[in-house]
Order: sequence, then structure tokens, then C-alpha cells
Amino acid sequence: MTAEPSTPATPGPHAPAGPAVVGVVGGGQLVRMMLPEAARLTVPLRPLVRDHDEPVARVHPHVVVGGPDDEGLRRLAAACDVLTVEHELVDLDTLRALEDAGHPVRPSAATLGIAVDKVRQREVLGAAGVPVPPWSLVTSMDEVEAFAAEHGWPLVAKAPRGGYDGRGVWFVDGPGQLEEVLTAAPGPLLLEPALAIERELAVLVARRPGGQHVVYPTVETVQVGGICHEVLLPADITPEQDRRAGQLAELVADTVGSVGILAVELFVVDGQVLLNELAARPHNSGHLTIEASVTSQFENHLRAVLDLPLGDPAARVPAAAMVNVLGVGERDPRARLASALAEGCANVHLYDKAPRDGRKLGHVTATGPDRAVAAEQARRAAAALTGPEQETAG
Ligand SMILES: Nc1ncnc2c1ncn2[C@@H]1O[C@H](COP(=O)(O)OP(=O)(O)OP(=O)(O)O)[C@@H](O)[C@H]1O
Ligand SMILES: [Mg+2]
Repeated sequence: MTAEPSTPATPGPHAPAGPAVVGVVGGGQLVRMMLPEAARLTVPLRPLVRDHDEPVARVHPHVVVGGPDDEGLRRLAAACDVLTVEHELVDLDTLRALEDAGHPVRPSAATLGIAVDKVRQREVLGAAGVPVPPWSLVTSMDEVEAFAAEHGWPLVAKAPRGGYDGRGVWFVDGPGQLEEVLTAAPGPLLLEPALAIERELAVLVARRPGGQHVVYPTVETVQVGGICHEVLLPADITPEQDRRAGQLAELVADTVGSVGILAVELFVVDGQVLLNELAARPHNSGHLTIEASVTSQFENHLRAVLDLPLGDPAARVPAAAMVNVLGVGERDPRARLASALAEGCANVHLYDKAPRDGRKLGHVTATGPDRAVAAEQARRAAAALTGPEQETAG
């Protein structure tokens, strides 16, 4: 994919004195975590939110109200100089039309078109030489049986589009279970063997329109039931696997022509590094860069979409751990803040969301000389936020 010619970050019509105005599709925790970085760099941020209850709108008055549809995107474009996203479920036809009309969209509609579709990821990146797990797109049980005859059971079935946090991913033991999933699915399913994964890794790349980029240190991610629970730095891998992970992430970023942060999720299977999927935006695996890197993923996302010089992604601590705060029933982490802060060593981030079972409500990061110690500290504070203790005021 050809690189967009480098354009200087000249202030656009919306920001006479400072950097150009960045419009962000979405109002969740990712754009909320861009806010402090934007404030430091005097970057005006205009998130597109559905309502004033979204995490970013609770702390930032300068929002555009609308959905990620034609009307909302055009409204956002009219209020910003550069348009970016915090999620990929965006009307791509409108983004293409905005690009054609000369409005900078970063990442581009072409990049997002790959990021939203797990089948296109495998086609495009497989063809570019990125190793991907064996896969097939199936619509009938005959095709399922043919795939199972080659790879055996269990299998993993995935909705090609629209999945997140393990939604749209099914681990299936046999044909009966798979038939149920296939019948309920609105379209074809992506099939893969259930791999014996030794480690899951993620590498973030921050990339400017001209192709200049920086690569973050490889992190290890820990999933439970398809949902990310923890992220650990450094990853417990060999130097060769580490080198390979970084190399693959750069190849993926170049192939899809990403601008901004690109998160590349990888598996280690049989000692080899394979692509799982990618996300063309700041990512849960990069939250620990706020405390652990010289430049956070949120700052480098803004710098990249504004075509400003990128910051150093290097770790400034030997080790770090991030633990997600996932909803437990109706328990509200905001009401348990004091007990989490009493842990002292951990950095607590709450997203100001209504509690719901399994929902990502916040995260906790700890840093230090030792990965296991940091992980223990972060786990204790995270547990305090959803624990069974009495709720305390403040
Ligand atoms: N082929 C496979 N074999 C074994 N486990 C798998 C396989 N594919 C996915 N998984 C597990 O399921 C998790 C979720 O899969 P995937 O990343 O495709 O889903 P997602 O819901 O789109 O992810 P995210 O939470 O990153 O949005 C993976 O991180 C991994 O733990
Ligand atoms: Mg994933």
C-alpha cells in the first residue's frame, strides 16, 4: 500500500494558534485517555459521542454528538482538521467520500477496511508473507467437516466482522456445537484450529503518513475466555521471538499503510510467532505505556495523526503489569476507590462507566524492577476495585 505523502501539521481552519484540531470517532476510555496528552500538547480534541454519558463526555465539554454513521461523521469532519478513530465500527463509505473530498482521515478508510475484517486481514497479510494460523471461510457443515478432517477438533469459529472482547469468537468441541453457531451466524464463519498457544503477544507501531514509525517493546497479554485480563512487560520470550514479533508488526503496519497506533496481536505456537489480528487504534495492550514508556501510545497516536515527530516508545522501567478491572455484577469500582488507592504502588485508571458484568470499567498499572512483583501489586489494587468489601464513600 502506498504511503500518503507527508503533510506538515499546519494548523487547519479550526485552530488558528496551535496544532490542528483532531476529531475522534468514539467517546470511550481510549479517547478519554488521549485527553491529558492532548492538553499537554495543546491539541484540541473533538470526540464524536452518542450522548453526554460516554466516558470522554463526562470530563470534556468539547464533543460532537452523533453516531459513527454518515451524518455523524460529516458533522465531526466539519468540526476538525484531521479525523481519527477509537474503534473500527465506522461507516467506511462516508470515510472514503471524506478522503476523496480532501479531508485527512488517519488511519485511512483502506486501512480500516482491513482492520474490521478478520478474513481480509488473513488474505492481505498472508499474501504479504506474514505467517497466519490455518484458516477457512465456511458457510456449510460440509466445509466444516472438510476443515476438521484436516485439522481435527476442537476448532475456533469467528465472526469475520464486529467481534470484540471475545464476542464473536466460539471455541467448539465438535460438529453439533459448530452447527449451532453456524445456524445462528448471520453469514460465513472464519474457522481455525484451536491452537496450543504458548504465549500471546502484542506489539504497537506508531506510524506517520509518510511511513516513518516507531515500534513499542513487545508485551505479553493474558486472555481468559477470550478477554484480555493482564498485560505484562517484558514478555517472557526468547530474543529471537522478540525480534520476530517486532519485525512482523512493522511488516503489518507497512502492508496496511497504518497511520496512528496500530496494535498487532500475535500468538507463539510451537516456538513460532503468528499473527492473530490487528487493531488500527490505541489498544488495551498499550495502556501500560502511560506509566512504562517514555511516550505513551495515546500521545504517539496524536503525534502520528498530526504528522508530528514521534516520541520514544522505549520502556523507562525494567518491568510493568496492567490488570483490567472487569465488572463483577453491580459492584461499582468508583465506590471502592479508597481501598484500591490504599495499595499505594499501583496507578488506578477508572473509565467512569456504569458497572455491568464483564464490562471493562478501568485498569490498574504497576511498574518496578520485577514483573512478578508489579503484577501482584496491580492485581491487588484491581481486586480491591471489584471486591466484596463494603462500599466506602470517596
Ligand atoms: N485459533 C485459536 N486458537 C486458540 N485460541 C484462540 C484462537 N483464536 C483466538 N483465540 C483466543 O481468543 C482470543 C480472542 O480472539 P480474537 O483476538 O480473535 O478476538 P476479539 O474478540 O476480536 O479480540 P479483542 O478482545 O482483542 O477485541 C485470543 O486472544 C485468544 O486467546
Ligand atoms: Mg483480539
